[in-house]
Amino acid sequence: MKHKIIEISYSEYSSIEELNENEAGLILKAREAAKNAWAPYSGFHVGSAVLLDNGKIITGNNQENVALPSGLCAERVALFAANANYPRDRVVALAISAYNKKGRVLHPISPCGSCRQAILETEERYGVSIRIILDGTSSIQVVEGIKNLLPLSFNKDSL
Ligand code: THU
Repeated sequence: MKHKIIEISYSEYSSIEELNENEAGLILKAREAAKNAWAPYSGFHVGSAVLLDNGKIITGNNQENVALPSGLCAERVALFAANANYPRDRVVALAISAYNKKGRVLHPISPCGSCRQAILETEERYGVSIRIILDGTSSIQVVEGIKNLLPLSFNKDSL
């Protein structure tokens, strides 16, 4: 038996001012998008902003449904909209922000498992690593590529 360890890495910033202009701008778009979430059941409003290599920014937010599984997370709303409308433009970064009734979340919001799988698919589709920017009031985390959020993934080589 071999015991193996996988390391993941990310950068942590204490405020948006520490980020470069592009990344800070993407977070602001995600914060803005969260305001248009449809989240009457959870009260948890999530916004997401996708940056394409042509400089375009596509936003999304969570869309809940009274039949709960019929809703969708902000990340996939934004990613699918980007992939559907700009299929030839590579996704280079994705920012996520969220607020609840107490305000913007303290801990950086991290994508759910299904969204991680969708981010992986987008990376493989475009042959890129996506910079994932997670917004919180206590800190902002920047993750270079989904391998840091989804190790041991089911991917195209698994088929
Ligand atoms: N949600 C997202 O939109 N993104 C995440 O990364 C986590 C969760 C949504 C799904 C649901 O509408 C609400 O937040 C509470 O789970």
